[in-house]
Amino acid sequence: MNTLIVYKSYHRMNTEKVAKAMADALNAQLAKVEDVRPEELAGYDLIGFGSGIYGLKHHKALIELIEAMPAMDKDVFVFSTCGNVREVNHKQIKEKLTEKGCHIAGEFTCFGEFAGALRLNRDWKGALAFIGGKNKGHPDEKDLENARVFAKGLLSA
Ligand SMILES: Cc1cc2nc3c(=O)[nH]c(=O)nc-3n(C[C@H](O)[C@H](O)[C@H](O)COP(=O)(O)O)c2cc1C
Repeated sequence: MNTLIVYKSYHRMNTEKVAKAMADALNAQLAKVEDVRPEELAGYDLIGFGSGIYGLKHHKALIELIEAMPAMDKDVFVFSTCGNVREVNHKQIKEKLTEKGCHIAGEFTCFGEFAGALRLNRDWKGALAFIGGKNKGHPDEKDLENARVFAKGLLSA
């Protein structure tokens, strides 16, 4: 089975960890989205697409790659790391892939550490407040093991 995993990861490189775990389990080729040309995708039997979730969606670069790729009847899977697991997170990418004729063989998500930010807190006389940080330590070893199990499950399916 000729498998490719395409990913975009920039915030904390969380999705890159998951992509690497899946690539090991599947003996797949791993590529950053910037390094993939849309025409290349037709040469694989199975393709995984993954990124962090930003504004309730996968990264724009991944969506643009899917929009630019030729229509193909192909098995694909989608994955992500996220701050909050929500059904909507994978909606857009699944729709785009389905429009291209692909079959969604599976999907995987797990928490990804999310950096907080220092903001001026107006209610507290301009003091700096730390907001937002969560999911510290994720993806952890258990998340990565879950990703490997998911990936191996795709092969047996
Ligand atoms: C700009 C930005 C927007 C984000 N928006 C969401 C979101 O809408 N939903 C969510 O669950 N997580 C959100 N997150 C959290 C990321 O999905 C999470 O930290 C992810 O693991 C980042 O992946 P990466 O390190 O591979 O880039 C956001 C993070 C950033 C930096």
